[in-house]
Amino acid sequence: MRGRDDEMNPAAFVAEALSDFATVGAIAPSSRFLTRAMLRPLPLKNARVVIELGPGTGVMTRALLDLLPFDATLLAFEINPRFARHLRSTISDPRLVVIHARAEALQEELSRRGYRHVDAILSSLAMGFMSDRQRHALLNEIGVCLKKKGIFTQYQYLHSLQLRGRQLSKFDLSGLLWQYFRSVQRKIIWRNLPPAFVFTCRGTRVRTSHTATKNSR
Ligand SMILES: C[S@@+](CC[C@H](N)C(=O)[O-])C[C@H]1O[C@@H](n2cnc3c(N)ncnc32)[C@H](O)[C@@H]1O
Repeated sequence: MRGRDDEMNPAAFVAEALSDFATVGAIAPSSRFLTRAMLRPLPLKNARVVIELGPGTGVMTRALLDLLPFDATLLAFEINPRFARHLRSTISDPRLVVIHARAEALQEELSRRGYRHVDAILSSLAMGFMSDRQRHALLNEIGVCLKKKGIFTQYQYLHSLQLRGRQLSKFDLSGLLWQYFRSVQRKIIWRNLPPAFVFTCRGTRVRTSHTATKNSR
């Protein structure tokens, strides 16, 4: 079901990173160890709809498709047009919908397609490079879209910093995630460049009047 030219030339990934490091937020695609740690906690076996934020060249996307049921849907939000094109041209799997839009437009893009809640969300977005406002807006969207028993995973490189005004300071993603979820677990993955924490978040605290989904109908 997948295209043959799976891997984007590594130099092309680096070129994208150099042209917009704050958005790409990495110097290389994630390792298979980080990918595995991001996917393992997710309830994929019986999932109907799953969201990936920031698929890049698709290392996690391909691994996700290997684990999802044949009739599930994977909505992948990618802001970078080159990565979005690459995903569309190299992965020909009917379960994958590549959405060339900002992750912040999650609810809008979901409801445009008739969905409200999803089983799982995984995010590779570089939250350290976002403003406080963007982070809260994004986590709110994630919290609203996730089913009550849904799970969210997010990674963050060790020693991540954030820019506050003109000052660099340590970025405490864990504290932020606790504001939006009842349970937040953290695991270190050393075999990645650079090593990273994987956060597994359960029990969204964000609730709206929404109760149903199209595919979890
Ligand atoms: C650190 S890379 C991760 C790529 C891939 N998932 C991996 O693990 O190797 C982050 C990706 O998120 C995308 N991205 C950044 N901000 C975004 C946003 N607001 N909405 C959607 N995608 C975004 C970037 O273009 C990039 O492809």
